[in-house]
Parts: sequence; C-alpha cells; structure tokens
Amino acid sequence: MKKSATSYRRARVSEERISIKIRLKYSDVSLFQRRFSPYMSQYGMFLPTRHLKNKGTPLFFEFFLANNQRVFYGEGTVVQLYPPDRYPTAGLGIRFTALDQRSQQLLMEILAQQTQRSDLVPKLSPGVIQDLSDAAPATQAPPPTATGRQPARATAGTSKVPTQQPVASSNTAQPWNVGKPNAPETPATPPPAAKELPLFYGKESEIEETGPIIGIDLGTTNSCCAIVEGNKPHVIPSRYGYNTIPSIVAYDERGNLLIGHPAKSQMMLNPHNTVYGSKRLVGRKYHSPIVQIIKNRFLYEIIETEKGDSGVRIDQSNFTLQEVSALILTEIKEIAQSYLEQPINRAVISVPAYYNDNQRQAVREAGLLAGLKVERIVNEPTAAALAYGFGRSLNQKLLVYDLGGGTFDASVLQIHKDVYEVISTGGNTFLGGVDFDSRLIDYVLDRFYEEHQINLRHDAVKMQRIKDAVEKAKCDLSHEVKTDLIIPYIDLKDGVPLDINLTLDREVLNSLVQDLVEETVRVCDAVLSAQNLKPQEIDEVILVGGQTRMPLIHQRLTDHFGKPPHRNVHPDEAVALGTAILAYSFGQSGLIKLVDVLAMSIGIGLPGGRFKVIAPRNHKLPFEKSYTISTTRDDQTELEIVVFQGESSNVADNEYLGTMKLQNIQKAPRGKAKFDITFHLNNECILKITAKDLQTGLVKELVLSTRDTPEDLRQKLEMPAPAPAEAVPPPIPTQPTSHIPPIEDTPAPSGGGVLGWIKKLLGRR
Ligand SMILES: Nc1ncnc2c1ncn2[C@@H]1O[C@H](COP(=O)(O)OP(=O)(O)OP(=O)(O)O)[C@@H](O)[C@H]1O
Ligand SMILES: [Mg+2]
Repeated sequence: MKKSATSYRRARVSEERISIKIRLKYSDVSLFQRRFSPYMSQYGMFLPTRHLKNKGTPLFFEFFLANNQRVFYGEGTVVQLYPPDRYPTAGLGIRFTALDQRSQQLLMEILAQQTQRSDLVPKLSPGVIQDLSDAAPATQAPPPTATGRQPARATAGTSKVPTQQPVASSNTAQPWNVGKPNAPETPATPPPAAKELPLFYGKESEIEETGPIIGIDLGTTNSCCAIVEGNKPHVIPSRYGYNTIPSIVAYDERGNLLIGHPAKSQMMLNPHNTVYGSKRLVGRKYHSPIVQIIKNRFLYEIIETEKGDSGVRIDQSNFTLQEVSALILTEIKEIAQSYLEQPINRAVISVPAYYNDNQRQAVREAGLLAGLKVERIVNEPTAAALAYGFGRSLNQKLLVYDLGGGTFDASVLQIHKDVYEVISTGGNTFLGGVDFDSRLIDYVLDRFYEEHQINLRHDAVKMQRIKDAVEKAKCDLSHEVKTDLIIPYIDLKDGVPLDINLTLDREVLNSLVQDLVEETVRVCDAVLSAQNLKPQEIDEVILVGGQTRMPLIHQRLTDHFGKPPHRNVHPDEAVALGTAILAYSFGQSGLIKLVDVLAMSIGIGLPGGRFKVIAPRNHKLPFEKSYTISTTRDDQTELEIVVFQGESSNVADNEYLGTMKLQNIQKAPRGKAKFDITFHLNNECILKITAKDLQTGLVKELVLSTRDTPEDLRQKLEMPAPAPAEAVPPPIPTQPTSHIPPIEDTPAPSGGGVLGWIKKLLGRR
C-alpha cells in the first residue's frame, strides 16, 4: 500500500520532525549496501549515533555518498534507544515509515544479499513502507568540521556513522602528522597493491623524547587513552566521540585497513578478515598448549610466525600480533595527537598483572611499532588503584577485581599516601566477558537445536550475529531482570525462515556463569591466602572492567567480603586514568612510588621436564638472583638454559619463555668451565639474564632464542613424548643430555644455596 506524495508532504510539515543527513566517506553504492546490511531489516534500521532522541520522534534521514549522490533516504520513527552506557555501539532503532523508490529498491537488494548469505528467502512486505519517489531534491549535507581540540562527535547533520573511515596510512616513521578527525576522505581509494602497514620499523633511539606522555589501557575488547591536564586525569575521546575504541583491526572487502569502530561495525559481514581479542594471543608461542586449544575459537586464521609466535592471516597477508596491537596503538596515538595538537612520542601502557615476560615484551614491541617509546609497562590493577587513590592520602588495603573482556586479575595493594605497594597478585588471562558470552551462546544454540535440529555453529556470519545479540542481551540483563533475544531469519527450514526468539532472564544467565564467578572468587582467595590475608582485612574492593557491571558479581563479592564493592571507580576508564597519572608522575619526582610484585614464578627446565623456580611468584620487583652452572662434557662449547613461567612443577604446563644459549665456550675438561647465571627482573617485570664466565670474568647478556619447537624442548629436557589421543604410550627411556647443564650447589651470590634437591636429582642421573 503506497502512500501518496501529498500525504508525504503533509507529514513533512510536522514541527517535531528531525532531519539527519549522513555523509559517507566513499562513493560506492555497493559499499553502502555491505556496510549497512547488518543494520537493515525490512521494517527499519539501526542508526549508530550517540545523539539519542526520544522514542516516537519522527525523523527524516538522508545518506549521501562522497560524490554527493543521495543514496538512501526516507522517513522513520525512533522505536528503540541504545544508550552508550549500556551498548557497545550506541544508536537509534528506526522504523521506516516512508522510503523513496530508489531507496526501497536498494533496501530490497540489501535484504536479498542478507538472505543469500544465510540461504534464506526474503519476505519483503511491500505495504509496510511508503513511496517517496517524488520527494524534495536532496540538500547536500555540510562537510563535517572539527572544532578546537574536540574530536568530532557524532551529531545530526554531520558525518556520524562510525563505519566509514578507513584509517589514514600515516607512516609513523615520519614526523608526526596530526590527523583531522572526520576529515573527508578522497573517494574511491584503490585497494593497496601489497599490505604495507602504517607502522614504524625503526629503533627506539630514533623516537624523540619530547611532548606529553599519554596513558593507554590496551584492552582485549576496548582500549582507552587518557592524559593528565590541569592536574586531573581524563579520557581522550575517540574520533567518533566514544571514550573507548574497540580493539579490533580488519581489512574490508576493498583492502582498506580499518581500526576500532569501523572495524567493529563490519565484523559481522567480514568475520574472517577481522581480528579481535588479539590480546589473548599476543606474545604466545603458536605451539603453546593454550594457543593450540583456543586457536579454533577465533573466526580468523591463526598462523605460526617465523619466530614460532602466534600470528594472524587476514586478507591473504600474514601479520604478527605485535603488528595488530600496534595498529590499535597507532589509532590511539593519532587520536591523542589530534586532540592535544602536538606530536605524541611516548606512552605508559597497561597490561594484565598476570601477563608473562613474553607478553610484556610483545606489548613493548607493539608500542615501538606504533612509533611510541614505552616509558613504562604497568599492571592494570596497579593503574586502577592509582585512579582510585591518587591525591586522596589514603591508608588502605585494597583488592582490585578486574574482570574485562578477556582477562581476570585480582591484586591486593596497600596504599599509604603516595606509595602503592602490591602485596599479592593473581589471575587468569583466559577468563573474561567473552567466556560469559560463550556460555550464553551455547545456551541459545542448544535451544535452537532442540527446536529445529539445526546446528548453527559452522556458519561464521550467523555465529557473529548470535555473538553480537547475545552480548547485548547479557549487558541488558545487568540492568533488567528479563530481556528478549531476537535474531530474525537466522536460518531456513523447508522454505520457512527461522528466527531466534527467546526471553532470557537474569536467573538463567546467573546459573550459566555461576562457576565462572566462583572461579574469580577462588582466585581472590588464593591471592589473599598467598599473604595470609582474610577477606575481612580488605578495606575496599574496587571493581574494574565492563563485566563487573553484572549484579551477580556485586552480590557474590558483597557476600564474600562482608561489604559491597566500592562504586566510584569507572569500570571502563579507571585503568587508562591510572596509566595517565603514572605518566604524569614521571615529570614530578617523588609524586608516586609503585612497588609491584612478580605475578607468576619464573624458572628453568630440568631433565625429566621438571620446573625449578628461580624467581618466585609475589616476590617484590625489581628482583635479582644468581646460580652457577658448569659444563658436563670435556671440550663442551655450548650450554643452554630453558626458561619457563608458571606455577606447575612440570614445565609442560608452564609457558615457555625461551632458550638461552651460551656459545663459543673455551674448550676445557668437564666441570671446568663455570658460569654465574643471573636472572634480573626490572620493576615492570621484564626479564634479562646475564652469564659471567668465571674463568675469564667476562659478562654476557643472553638473548632469549625462541625457536625451539616442542619437539626440541622435549629432547632437551628429556620429557616423555605427548600421549597419542587414544593409546597409552610406552615409556620413553630417559637419556642424559649434554644440553641442559647441571646447577652447582655452590652458594649463589644473591640467591642462596640453589637447590639441594637438584643435587639429588643430578645424583640420580
Ligand atoms: N553492562 C554490562 N553487563 C555485563 N557485561 C558487560 C556490560 N558492559 C560491558 N560488559 C562486558 O565487559 C567486557 C568488556 O570489558 P572491558 O572493556 O573492561 O574489557 P577490556 O578492558 O577490553 O578487557 P581486558 O581488561 O580483559 O583486556 C565485554 O565482555 C562486555 O560484554
Ligand atoms: Mg581492561
């Protein structure tokens, strides 16, 4: 049923009607179709914006391509609000009330594409939308402007859709370049011939040590940047006006590199070329048990880099995860430069307290690739404690409970005025909001299977739609006790489109994730008991990370600690604000003193695959300890030390950090060539190992060679071969190896008698 042009004109004179003009950054209609497809249905669309209008507000909307062609226009009514504090992408749900004929045609094409992708037959009801074909000519939307220091925010009448702006390929090796927020893009950028990343591949010494130091929380899901100005820390908004940017990097179908919001908005259509959650993989060996277990959970391809690390393959090119993280840091750097109107060369970056040495090194490398000198790596809970306590002259024992998208950290700190001392720390780098989502996804998939006997797990696009909807439902359930999870046309059976349509209540969600919450409480208890502390001895529990908005977590912690958690720290911003405070303190000596501890023991592999701790967990940083090793064969010219991090007595369960090689040892009878090996951990927990030749007095700094494969390690450490899936393997006879040197029981300079039991072990050999 088409409405007449006359009635359309009558409708337009309504005084309350709001006009929204959206100017896109490209001139290609097919790109509009692809980008907006996830947001369109036959009845209406989702319009990303932070400028929300009341429900029921009538709208007149126009989308323009970069060449000024009006591509989609019509009228609608606001039917749903997605406020920024509750949804990852804020916006308006609009029901179409009128569309011009070309826009109707375009909408039908978009719906047809959606259905092709999910093998559905579209059912467009023509009567729903009116015809606007003879409507008023398009007025050109004014180009977006950047005013003063504020990054352009999404406002009606300016470019507002955070899906359109490919990242400027500024080369950070060159002098800085203040990005213009929302600057109009040259239309029709040709796809790049080869993947040249806008990264800096030079040395740290080439970066100037000038300009302000920014603080960066490089999160699994979202990243956040902050600065101290006028003695107060505050967040620097993204180029779209958000306080955080999604930690997502993608190549779109035209080869454009997208970072942050633009990458997130196209994720549903392009899941194989969109990298998210890279923080869980960065600095991890490809062959580590963890990567082998989780690699198939990602929709993009995880590969092994030349160095044996985990990397990713997107759009037919291979990248290291340092490069992926660096792209997110580059975006942050550009936002900060644009906001502060000066070059940014230095940053403090936070990492989970539970990150191992490789992961910390990887973040440093990522910082350098982004053209940033990383002034300090700081643990996230420590940064959150700084945001809580800075300038308040407190004397308190805090527990920082940080449950973000991908990691959980619990740390106990003693704040005494400006001294922040970590007493105990622990966590799990594989526990976060995504695990809560996974439980709910499984629940939804099971219900769908029960009803229709269809397994949706193998379709990446459908899974991405489900993930998106489930995460939104999970967040809704932090504010409401019930919510509807509706995903229209998720599949087709016997020619009939099938929807997911479930009412979820908070109780169901709570029951699905109860054990995850219990695991966090167990970690808190372990962190407390490591220092003989009881829950009642904690003065305040600070909640950090988006997932802590869940009421079940508040309830459980209130029960456990006998008091409700502190509410005045912003869960999304505290870590970034703390990094900014620390950065600020560098210019003012004595402003803040941080004393941190080692979150996970570091040690060496011994014959039989055992693990000997050299630096124990919770030891104060900096740390230094030495021991002596000697050759085991006549004329031996090479010695190796295999380093691991973790709490298991079995190296196979710990994270392999690398192998130290002592080469070109002067030939001598066995046991004559001796070395003092010293483990140094600096105050940001980065490991350096030195070897002093006791014959010559020469000191060598050892470099972690990271190329040992699991099989190399197995042989070096005389570990049994891994069990085949079903059969029990015959025992492997252990042969003494010449690679792994014995440790002498002569007292070490600072470490004390290393290991009576090693002697016993050696005695057995
Ligand atoms: N209202 C809410 N209720 C429940 N969970 C929420 C809510 N808002 C956000 N989350 C969840 O919080 C997580 C993101 O939190 P955050 O942005 O703090 O993570 P992150 O800092 O990127 O991750 P990490 O600190 O682990 O590296 C997501 O899993 C998201 O679903
Ligand atoms: Mg976080």
